[in-house]
Amino acid sequence: MVWIIADLLVYNKYPEAYDSLEFHNWDFQEVTSITPLEQRIVIDGGAGTGRVALEAALSARWVFAVEPVTRLREFIRTKALKAGLSNIFVIDGFLHAIPLPDEFADVLITSHALGWRLKDELEEFERLVKNGGVIVHCPGTPETVDAEEQHSLLVSPTWGYEYSRYRESDGWKRKYWKKLQ
Ligand SMILES: C[S@@+](CC[C@H](N)C(=O)[O-])C[C@H]1O[C@@H](n2cnc3c(N)ncnc32)[C@H](O)[C@@H]1O
Repeated sequence: MVWIIADLLVYNKYPEAYDSLEFHNWDFQEVTSITPLEQRIVIDGGAGTGRVALEAALSARWVFAVEPVTRLREFIRTKALKAGLSNIFVIDGFLHAIPLPDEFADVLITSHALGWRLKDELEEFERLVKNGGVIVHCPGTPETVDAEEQHSLLVSPTWGYEYSRYRESDGWKRKYWKKLQ
């Protein structure tokens, strides 16, 4: 609980400080090696300061950055404007309640945001992504923890995510992906 409150303080008061944290610098090819984003409609869920949204917007058709914290939504808009990216739409919402229509997106990405209401979130993603579309999660969980609840659920036959490891600044992490069909 203390960490949640600390995070909220940082998001609201010092988004620039949060944006400059080392952990953001993982290689975005970890996503694009799973699915190309060219001309796709992409959702970045729990977008934070917009690291994923801005990278995706370099090749995607449209990017919808979903973020519940008002200050961070402002921060992403400013960053996108400065970067000259006019294909990012920043919207309020939670991962389990994203205000977009069914089968709207080609790709949905979360980075360090998954799991506040995991089952509800996984259901919501499948509502939003088209058949043939792809869901990618980089939750930032260490790859050494293999018995955790989140991992077991994601790779269970019910949800059927594949996974592999990749490197972030503070160690090996897991990424998860799933193609809808
Ligand atoms: C650790 S940050 C990661 C931000 C960004 N995706 C990144 O990789 O830098 C988590 C973000 O998720 C947002 N968040 C928290 N709870 C959420 C929820 N239930 N639904 C959507 N976003 C949420 C927070 O406001 C914060 O911006």
